Amino acid sequence: MKEKKFQFSYKVVADATGLAEADAALLQLARKTTKKAYAPYSKFNVACAAKLANGKTVVGSNQENASYPVGICAERALLATVGTQYTDEPILTLAVTYHSLNGDSSHPISPCGMCRQALSEYEKRSGTPIRLLLSGMEGPVYIISTIKDLLPLAFSEEDLG
Ligand code: THU
Repeated sequence: MKEKKFQFSYKVVADATGLAEADAALLQLARKTTKKAYAPYSKFNVACAAKLANGKTVVGSNQENASYPVGICAERALLATVGTQYTDEPILTLAVTYHSLNGDSSHPISPCGMCRQALSEYEKRSGTPIRLLLSGMEGPVYIISTIKDLLPLAFSEEDLG
C-alpha cells in the first residue's frame, strides 16, 4: 500500500494594508459589493470581485430565494457573469469576503464545495490559475495561489472519458 500526501501552503497578512495596492483595491471592491447581496434568510452577505487578464473587474454576490436551494453563492454568480461577458477570459485574482449581519465578519471564509468545483472548472477551462484573496470585512487575508489547492483530487471532464 502506498501513502500519498496532499499539502499546500498559503500566505496570511494581518490585514488589507499588507497587500499590494491592486489586491487591496480588489478586496475593497468585494467588501463594498457585500451591500449588493440578497441574503434575507441567512443574513450572511457574501461578495467577490475578480480581476481578469484583460484588466476588467467583475463582481458577484449571493442571491438567495425563499425556496432555499434556489439561492446562488457569490462565487458562482460571478462565474456566470464572467463566462457570459468575458467568455474564457482568465481570472487572475478573486477576492472573496462576507458581512454577517448576525455576528463577526473578521475571519476569512473560503468558497463552499460547490463553488470550489465551479471555480476549478473555470480555472481549467481558462488555463490560468485563479489566485484567491480570502477575508472578512476586516482582519487577516489569506492568499491562495490556485483553486487546485482547495480541491484535491478534483472531478473534471477528463473523468467523463
Ligand atoms: N455563500 C456564498 O455565497 N459563498 C460561499 O462560498 C459560502 C456560502 C452563501 C450561500 C448562502 O446564501 C449564504 O452564504 C449562507 O450560507
